[in-house]
Amino acid sequence: MTAESLATAAYLVAALLFILSLAGLSRHESARNGVVFGIAGMTLALAATVLLVVLDAWGAASALGLVLMLVALVIGASIGLWRARVVEMTGMPQLIALLHSFVGLAAVLVGWNGYLDAPDMSTALEGIHHAEVFVGVFIGAVTFTGSIVAFLKLSGRMSSAPLMLPGKNAMNLGAVVAFIAFTVWFVIDPRLWLLIVVTALALALGWHLVASIGGGDMPVVVSMLNSYSGWAAAAAGFLLNNDLLIVTGALVGSSGAYLSYIMCKAMNRSFLSVIAGGFGIQASSSGDDEQGEHREVSADDVARILLDADSVVIAPGYGMAVAQAQYPVAELTARLRERGVDVRFGIHPVAGRLPGHMNVLLAEARVPYDIVLGMDEINDDFAGTSVVLVIGANDTVNPAAAEDPGSPIAGMPVLKVWEAAEVVVFKRSMASGYAGVPNPLFFRENTGMLFGDAKQRVEDILRVL
Ligand code: TAP
Repeated sequence: MTAESLATAAYLVAALLFILSLAGLSRHESARNGVVFGIAGMTLALAATVLLVVLDAWGAASALGLVLMLVALVIGASIGLWRARVVEMTGMPQLIALLHSFVGLAAVLVGWNGYLDAPDMSTALEGIHHAEVFVGVFIGAVTFTGSIVAFLKLSGRMSSAPLMLPGKNAMNLGAVVAFIAFTVWFVIDPRLWLLIVVTALALALGWHLVASIGGGDMPVVVSMLNSYSGWAAAAAGFLLNNDLLIVTGALVGSSGAYLSYIMCKAMNRSFLSVIAGGFGIQASSSGDDEQGEHREVSADDVARILLDADSVVIAPGYGMAVAQAQYPVAELTARLRERGVDVRFGIHPVAGRLPGHMNVLLAEARVPYDIVLGMDEINDDFAGTSVVLVIGANDTVNPAAAEDPGSPIAGMPVLKVWEAAEVVVFKRSMASGYAGVPNPLFFRENTGMLFGDAKQRVEDILRVL
């Protein structure tokens, strides 16, 4: 058996392991196995690729390829290990966005290499090869700059408000039409300047597409870039004649697209409008209008309200993750339950910064699964609830989404916490949430604001109790 056919067999097994991994990751109970399958598949794929290069290097006189690959492996693996060890849970989305940008850049480089160092082939195949180069560079460059903008927005280095250039939809559409025209031209006459132009065009398009999307839609953007990075990898796979890269890229591309679609449905957003860079999304009409007076409460007040309550719902958000308040929150839950209070959690699908972020934190603090409910399961119960504790959540409990058609988050389903008898909001200031939209909940008559770090405030309440 030749090394090539050995590697092909290994690639096939790796592809199967990736499919098993995806299947495993789709359910809580099998998620751990899913991760193990993924690691096994990736190890096998890497080992087969390295083996091919080693045998090649022995075959040819030069061992340069081998040395370069080992150096790249050591540098890449060290940076990856270091970042994965130090990254906070709250920093995961921006890390993922940055990793997507690498896939995009790799696809651009593979495409350029495919052009500059084109293999000998028949004229018929040449046309296909050039189309592959062009498409690969285009998807890769869009993914590259789009992911960098997502990284900058998610890490707060760039404003999360949508960029509203005049005629932005016409520009995006024009860029896509130009890309199609240039592709036809390049297949007929593969000039270097055409490749330069399409690279620049795609870099600008990727930047503009993601910059035009507001903070509230960022979760969908990250999963959409995940999908783009998959297609970019698949395009690179065609150029490199690597079946595994094609299969893996297609798996990532299609599962990312499906996840984006599910998230759009959960947030009542049009899938097409999000992938088209916020097509049809208008700038907010309601600015930072003065909304009235807010009422401040103390930890003592909240403890007293809780002692009188029959039922309590806790709506956690990103601020609970920042403050690492899940442990005192779990203790508060246990104490109240001991006193016979019915305590439950209401989890919004995009609370925090990752799908399932809150569920992971609460599971970590050993909050029983059965009192942690999804938005749809709890939303009708708020009207009959004595007290809602909103702990570091903001956009996900914003009544403007349900009541103000001019709001940038209009139509997004939210937890209807304001229907409860009393609402206590834990946060440090009157600042808006991730989407940058003012929140009228803070000014409602039945809302009390408990200012300060969520963890300290919950601990204060525990002391009073
Ligand atoms: P946000 O709307 O981001 O609000 C978090 C709140 O926590 C802020 O109002 C902040 O107010 C408060 N906070 C921060 N640190 C705190 C601390 N140490 N103690 C107390 N409060 C603190 O959070 P959310 O309601 O969870 O909504 C999530 C948002 O993120 C949505 O817009 C969603 O679309 C977006 N997003 C979600 C995801 C996914 S998939 N889940 C991914 C990316 C983005 P102060 O600054 O005044 O304290």
